[in-house]
Amino acid sequence: MPGARKAPTKGQIRRRNLEVAVQYPLDWLEERSGLVGGVKYFLFRNVPADTNWMQTLGAATLTAFIVQAVTGVILAMYYQPTPQGAYPSIVNITDHLTLGWLVRGMHKWGASVFIILMFLHMGRVFLFGAYKYPRELNWIVGVLLLLTGMMEGFTGYLLPWDQTAYWASVVGINLNGTAPFLGPWLAQFLRSGQEISGDTLTRFYSLHMLLLPGAIAGLIGLHLYLVVRLGVTSPPWSPEAAGRDRPEEPSDLRQGLTQPAAHGGGGSE
Ligand code: HEM
Repeated sequence: MPGARKAPTKGQIRRRNLEVAVQYPLDWLEERSGLVGGVKYFLFRNVPADTNWMQTLGAATLTAFIVQAVTGVILAMYYQPTPQGAYPSIVNITDHLTLGWLVRGMHKWGASVFIILMFLHMGRVFLFGAYKYPRELNWIVGVLLLLTGMMEGFTGYLLPWDQTAYWASVVGINLNGTAPFLGPWLAQFLRSGQEISGDTLTRFYSLHMLLLPGAIAGLIGLHLYLVVRLGVTSPPWSPEAAGRDRPEEPSDLRQGLTQPAAHGGGGSE
C-alpha cells in the first residue's frame, strides 16, 4: 500500500529495546536526584579553547589520589596496626599475598607521585596567575590540600614500623616540637604520650586512613565545585587573559566539547 510504513527490522527493535533499558534507570535517577543533569553539566561545561596540557595536572593529581585510596583500602585489609603485628603483616603483604608486592609498591611510590603532581599543579596555577581574583579561595583550599596531603605522607611513613620508619618519625615529631607556642603540644599529640609507642602507631594509623583521607576527599569536592563554579583560567598568552575580547572562532573548527549540542543534535526540538 502506498504510504505504508515499513515494519521495523529485528535489529532496529533490539536496538530500541536496548536504548529503553539503558535510558530507564538514568531517567529514574534523574527524576529523583537531578544527578544525571549535574554530571552532564560537569562534563560538558565550556572551557577556554586554548586550554593547555598543563591544565590537566589537577586531574592527574586527582587520579593519583584515587589510586592511593584504592590501594590503601586493599592494604588495610591485611595490615595490622600493632607493634607486634605491623612489620610481619607488611612482609606478608609483600612476599605472600597475590600481587601484594604490586599493590604495596603502587601505594608507596604513588605517595611520592601524588605529592610531586600536587606541586607541579600548584606551580602551573602560580605561573598562570590562576590564584588571582576570583580564585583566591580555591588557592586556599589548595593549600589545605597540600598540607593534608603531606600529612598523609608523614603518617604513612611510620606504619611499616621498621627502623627507618621509627627514626624518621622521631625526627619528624621532634621537628614539629620545635614550632613556636604549639610545638610541644603538637609533638605530644602526635606521639600520643611522652614517648613513641604502640599508641603512636595506632594514632598515626587512624589519622592516615580515616581523618586525613576523609578531609582530603571533602576538600577535593569543594575544590572541584569551585573550579566548575568559577571556570578555568585562560592561559596567560591568550587574548582574553590580556583583556581583549576573544576573536570569533573560525567556522571550520571541529566542534568539540565546547559545543556539546552539535554532537548529538539533542537541542530542544
Ligand atoms: C589533592 C590535590 C589537588 C587536586 C586533586 C586538585 C585538582 C584540581 C583540578 C582537577 C583542577 C582543574 C583543572 C586544572 O586546573 O588542572 C584544579 C584547579 C585549581 N587548583 Fe587544584 N588540585 C589539588 C591541589 C591544589 C593545590 C595544592 C593548589 C594551590 C595551592 C591548587 C589550586 C588550584 C587553583 C587556584 C585552581 C583553579 C585554576 C584555574 O582556574 O585555572 N590545587 N585543581
